Amino acid sequence: MLYFCARGRLVAAPAATEVMTLSVRLLSGIQPTGELHVGNYLGAIRNWVTLQRTHEAFFVVVDLHAMTVEYEPAAMRARTLDLARTLLACGIDATACTLFVQSHVPEHTELAWILNCVTSMGDLQRMTQFKDKAAQHETNINAGLFTYPVLQAADILLYKAKVVPVGEDQVQHIELTREVARRFNSRFGVTFPEPAAALTNSARIRGLDGQAKMSKSLNNHIPILAPPDRIAELLRPAFTDPARLRRSDPGHPEVCNIFALHKGFTAGERVAQIEQDCRTARIGCVDCKRILARSIAEELAVVRERYEALSPDAVEETLAEGARRAAVTARATMAEVRERAGLLARRTPA
Ligand code: TRP
Ligand code: SF4
Repeated sequence: MLYFCARGRLVAAPAATEVMTLSVRLLSGIQPTGELHVGNYLGAIRNWVTLQRTHEAFFVVVDLHAMTVEYEPAAMRARTLDLARTLLACGIDATACTLFVQSHVPEHTELAWILNCVTSMGDLQRMTQFKDKAAQHETNINAGLFTYPVLQAADILLYKAKVVPVGEDQVQHIELTREVARRFNSRFGVTFPEPAAALTNSARIRGLDGQAKMSKSLNNHIPILAPPDRIAELLRPAFTDPARLRRSDPGHPEVCNIFALHKGFTAGERVAQIEQDCRTARIGCVDCKRILARSIAEELAVVRERYEALSPDAVEETLAEGARRAAVTARATMAEVRERAGLLARRTPA
């Protein structure tokens, strides 16, 4: 089930519209900044796998966005390819959607420049992600970090996408995209539709420390490609209900991150049973985690198999085909944008 964000409120999309949206264009992006973990899987990727069947979907590995913070060139190249390989392993189907690398379609940066010229500095200064990242990377507050949301707007508007599945932290960027689209439209004539953010209803997945959001940089994550024994080993010391000191104490599943993960990976009836058994102290955390480790490993087994079966070479081929398809739409939009914005058309040499 998807929730659409309307003026800061979440509105459930009626199920009927979800099956009639095959022609509705959707786009989302993911940065190649670290190995994927089960938080990304539950929060975004599993949702993308469903959406590619109901929408005309574009999924972009946004390497240009990842350049806004310090990185190693060789590591960036490797991570970009590995991210695409992992997405395909998770069930992103390149015949059902368009999967590509942002820098392979140079129209993204071209449109970003033009949109820069209709974006207000004041709007960018209000972006909370910029403020957070500027505080985190005090010694590298570059102009790219500041105009990051404009490049994101270009990603979306270049394909005239109407739906953008994202986490809550990106809603502000989608609002900005709408504002930028409105400004371009009123200055140069109606060109872009205003996209809507689509939020998933999956519970927020915290890290194994039970505190912050699961993330690779905090090292509180379970990698999607972790083998079963590693998953069990990572879960063993994980934070549970802090009020449950002894095995005989009743637990509170609603505050326990292990339970949140059960809801993502364990079958519904089993989850209901665990909830009851936890409250009545009929199950201990050790056993509860053992069951969870098995559910996660079961679901991710096929992902690991597919990952191994995909050669990096085949992934590059798939990305090349994705970029070729994306470029068809990107070029058409740019021809329209250049003309509307008053850029002199370049003649094809005789
Ligand atoms: N900024 C997004 C994030 O950090 C990634 C992103 C880039 C994106 N371009 C996008 C998401 C376009 C949705 C649509 O998660
Ligand atoms: Fe959490 Fe499971 Fe322990 Fe309950 S039994 S507190 S759900 S780990």
